[in-house]
Amino acid sequence: MFEKAIITIDGPSGVGKSTAAKSVAEKLGLSYLDTGAMYRAIALQAKREGVNIDLANELESLLDRTEITFRRDQNHVLLVLVNNEDITDKIRSPEISRLSSDIATKGIVRTRLIEIQRNIGQQGGIVAEGRDMGTYVFPDAKYKFYLDADLEMRAQRRCNQLHESGSDANMDDIGKQIAARDKQDMERSESPLHPARNAVIINTTHLNADEVVLKIIKEVQGL
Ligand code: DC
Repeated sequence: MFEKAIITIDGPSGVGKSTAAKSVAEKLGLSYLDTGAMYRAIALQAKREGVNIDLANELESLLDRTEITFRRDQNHVLLVLVNNEDITDKIRSPEISRLSSDIATKGIVRTRLIEIQRNIGQQGGIVAEGRDMGTYVFPDAKYKFYLDADLEMRAQRRCNQLHESGSDANMDDIGKQIAARDKQDMERSESPLHPARNAVIINTTHLNADEVVLKIIKEVQGL
């Protein structure tokens, strides 16, 4: 019933989109598309190669020589690869978070990544997570969700994630970084973050991950 469906999940940083999208995809037997990971992958390569992201020709040649692919490991964990190198663990740092938001303002980057995203989605059967999935990349998606939550709660969750992965993190700093990223993601001229007109908005401030997933699945099943 859902095998050809496209479900979009958009929203600001740290709102629980990835956890929800992965779980919804798994429960409904659909593929999961993490579009933020694609912007992060380009940001990582730009940093490694010392690319000046304000120069369109430098960005263009970076895009030409960077192939992004996804693969599952033996535990079904989604891996992100650039030019066949597994970079999954290298793209989650605060520096790459910031740089990916900067790079996501560049039209040339968006055009390329959106083309890849639409190719992946053309057969349907995906849960696509990002900032512009329901508004711009898949405007005809059958099911659209926009997750939101208070800044403080989002900072707390991100902090917990960083602590769990063994990194140092300070709530105030994380809150400021998230707020700056949200502002840039919402105010950029190319497909800025906002809810699609027909998206179901879910405030996750007082919901745990399972409750968010349940709400999405009930909505999709028309319950
Ligand atoms: O979801 P994320 O935190 O991994 O995304 C990293 C950055 O990429 C985010 O700050 C904005 C950008 N992004 C975007 O502009 N459009 C998307 N569809 C996904 C992410």
